[in-house]
This record gives sequence, structure tokens and C-alpha cells, in this order.
Amino acid sequence: MKKVTGLKVNNHSSSQRLVDIKIENDYLDKVKEQFDQFDLLDIEYKPFLRFHITDIFNKIFNEKIQSLTKTILLNRDQGAFVIGPEEMDQSKYDTDFLVKLSTALTHLVGIPNFDAMYGKYYARFEVKNTDNSDSYLRKAAKKLDLHTDGTYVKEKTDWLLMMKMKEENSEGGESTLLHLDDWEDCEKFFTDPIGKENFVWGSPKSKNVDYKIEHPIFSTDQLGKPIISYIDQFPEPQSLKQGLYLNSLSESLEGSKKLISFKLPPGYAIFSNNYFMLHGRKAFKPHPKLYRELLRQRGIFYK
Ligand SMILES: [Fe+2]
Repeated sequence: MKKVTGLKVNNHSSSQRLVDIKIENDYLDKVKEQFDQFDLLDIEYKPFLRFHITDIFNKIFNEKIQSLTKTILLNRDQGAFVIGPEEMDQSKYDTDFLVKLSTALTHLVGIPNFDAMYGKYYARFEVKNTDNSDSYLRKAAKKLDLHTDGTYVKEKTDWLLMMKMKEENSEGGESTLLHLDDWEDCEKFFTDPIGKENFVWGSPKSKNVDYKIEHPIFSTDQLGKPIISYIDQFPEPQSLKQGLYLNSLSESLEGSKKLISFKLPPGYAIFSNNYFMLHGRKAFKPHPKLYRELLRQRGIFYK
């Protein structure tokens, strides 16, 4: 692993694929001191300020954090890292600061897409014990099956960052990841011609996307390796064979023994490549006072 001053970089305890980056508190305090000079509203209204705080952030780590993060995300053998403070202090590193921190992290590697669900370059949302929305996203008692993001939008989605801002009374709900190259049946589904057929993708009302798109589930990267764009809820099968293919794909993914699973604490984020690393979440044990606040950003790499 590369050495970067101010960071502790190791393999994550859950998998050799996953990198664990801890930000030393002295350094994070320097970041906080700098970021406190900027109002979050200004960062939301003036896109260039996002690049300015990213430059400040990168310089605190001797401009080495940019290549470290990009290298991990693009490395087919890795493709994801968990990042957060060495010691989390929720009163000091408050949610406004965490939005700024996530902004600096994403802008090291690329540009976030507009998130239609939230109406900003990021989305922040709560998950409680009960929910009456129209997708699995906020249903705590249900697991979120393995998937990639951006399956139903026109924009490309190269990467995504998922940050946990707050969590109270939670039991279960581990974050899950599956690397395509670890998945036992990847070759079988990748080589099946149905996987390269166009599927129709829609989305429920809460996503605020009023069109449908078509694309296959599998394609190949520049080196000819399989990449995937898949989620269980949004493809609309147009034939029996498409429906059955999706059903067995889902069963195979959910049955994989190679699942990476770990508890993501508040203040920490998962940053992953969206082409070969699938993500999901286990179910939470119901609790009347379960409360979680999450943030996501997804976007494209700089050219
Ligand atoms: Fe997702």
C-alpha cells in the first residue's frame, strides 16, 4: 500500500479486495478548520467552490490522496475503499462537515451527477423503522439486494460514495459488497446471450425520473472484462426468457458465498467502482426508534 501522510491505509478486515483508509484526527481537524470557513449553502450554489475545497483537502495530504483514491477505484483487483476518521467524534464532525468531506472525496476523482431524488449533486435521506415509500431504499426491515446504481438514468454512473451520517438503535443492517470477479456464476451469466440483450429500465415515482431507458445487463470494459449494470427492482422484462434470466441472476447473486459484509459506523463512507463492485445492505432488526441518516453521491470520472 502507498504511504500517505495523515492517512492509515490497510486492507479492510472484511476482505482483501477492500481498502480501509483512516484519516488521522490531527489531519481531519485541519480539514475541519479549513472547511468551517465555507457555508454549505455556498458550496451547493457555486459548483466551483466544491473544487476549491477539494484542492484544500488534497493539499493537506500533500496532494497524494487524489492518486491514492483514484488508483483504488480503477484497480480491477480492488475497486472500493472505506474511509473515515481514525476516531469518530459526532459532535465535532457534524453532518454539515460530513457533506463537505464527502464532496472533497468525490471531487478528487470526478464530477457527481445531479441526484433527481434530492434535487442536488448529492442526496441525503433518513431511514426509520417504518416507511411508506415505493422502493427498497428506505425499508430498513428488508435487505437491499446486491445491485449497481444509475441503472435507470441516462447519465453514466462510474462510481458511488455512500456515507453514513447518523445511526441510532441499529442492529443488523451490515453493508454488503460483491466483486464481479469473486462471484461464482459471473462467467455463466456474462456469456449467456440474454445478458447482452437490451432490457427496459424504469423507476418508481420517488426517483423523479420520468423516462425509461434500454441497456443490457452485461457489457465489457476496455480490457474485455465483464462489467454489470443491474438492480432487482427496475428492469421490466419483455419476455419470459428475460424474466427468468433476471430471476436466476438474482438468486445466484444473493446466494454467493463471496459476499463482503461489515458494519459501517457513522462518519464513514464506502467509495466504490460501480461497474464491477455490486453493493447492498442486510436487513435491520426492527426497532421502534431506529434512525439512520445517509448521504450518497454518484458520478463520472474526470476525463
Ligand atoms: Fe445503491
